[in-house]
Amino acid sequence: MERRRFHDLSVFDAIYPIMKAGLFRLDPEKAHHLSMSCLRTAEKLGLLALTCPVDEWVAPVEIMGLKFPNRIGLAAGLDKEGNTIDALGRLGFGSIEIGTITPRPQGGNPKPRLFRLVPHEAIINRMGFNNPGIEEGVRNVLRSKTFDGVIGFNIGKNKDTPNEDAASDYLACLRAAYPVAGYIAVNLSSPNTPGLRDLQGAEASARLLETLKKEQEKLAEEHGRRVPLLFKVAPDLDAAHIRDLSDVFLNGGLDGLIATNTTLDRSAVADHPKATEAGGLSGPPVFEKSNEVLEAFASHLAGRIPIIGVGGVSNLDQAREKLRRGASLVQIYTSFIYQGPSLVRDLARCL
Ligand SMILES: Cc1cc2nc3c(=O)[nH]c(=O)nc-3n(C[C@H](O)[C@H](O)[C@H](O)COP(=O)(O)O)c2cc1C
Repeated sequence: MERRRFHDLSVFDAIYPIMKAGLFRLDPEKAHHLSMSCLRTAEKLGLLALTCPVDEWVAPVEIMGLKFPNRIGLAAGLDKEGNTIDALGRLGFGSIEIGTITPRPQGGNPKPRLFRLVPHEAIINRMGFNNPGIEEGVRNVLRSKTFDGVIGFNIGKNKDTPNEDAASDYLACLRAAYPVAGYIAVNLSSPNTPGLRDLQGAEASARLLETLKKEQEKLAEEHGRRVPLLFKVAPDLDAAHIRDLSDVFLNGGLDGLIATNTTLDRSAVADHPKATEAGGLSGPPVFEKSNEVLEAFASHLAGRIPIIGVGGVSNLDQAREKLRRGASLVQIYTSFIYQGPSLVRDLARCL
């Protein structure tokens, strides 16, 4: 009983509001690097192992042939490098999607490129796939020791790779990540790499899926293990586009879908001075839009392709709403920044 009470009031839960007050005074990107570095240090010193009760958030589910310790995952973009997996895993995430990672390292867009819209608990980002490159990502994953959930690799194309050659970038990442990935998510939906969303066109995505599936079959034989291939889509899709893409995914044998990425739509935050910043909007303002896209895909796919629901979840009811609308798993990003580790554990325990 005593032990349980100590865990319920973990050190991180208690200090997060104080940490957040400090972090939110800093430039958002500096705050990000500082908090990730603190997490890694806390993990190295054994502090996270002391305070995080792993047994309380294990409620395994099997999806795409993978065993997830629970239904809550960390969405792509927070641990782009894959160097904070063990620490994030301690907080309760059953899966961690690293990346987006491209074949070659790249610096991303000029700063500033990350903005808080505090009254909306939202974020606008135009990071532009800043990442250390796939080889370093793989090395980082191999260095992770304690996380026993599912590691997803979110892969993308380099900015200077023209769309006609995008397949070769995705293939390079698929091949490199395959031996260490739990699943591979093909990012077609970031608004911050010029032209990337064009790959979401029905024809372009059908071609890409065919190429990647062929490679997946080869790799499965080579490694004796089939790593599921997922596509991640935008919330800014109309009904006809969703229907066409669903046909592509069903015909092409996609293993899973991630719905959704950030939105270009600013109607829910139009009153905020930062609303005009270019980039993708995330957090509660994307919740409804993302749910509509999720539900439309779920109705076309009719359970034949599992969906990971992501976009705007900031409490347990909203996570349950994603499941009601057709998701099998739920991911969060923005609400983790605003609410901290206690939210992860609540979702992991109760979902
Ligand atoms: C700062 C930031 C960076 C992101 N980077 C990526 C990325 O590299 N790749 C990706 O697929 N999604 C990225 N995302 C999108 C998230 O994975 C997620 O799909 C989106 O934020 C909606 O979820 P949320 O409302 O819970 O944040 C990023 C989001 C944020 C806020």
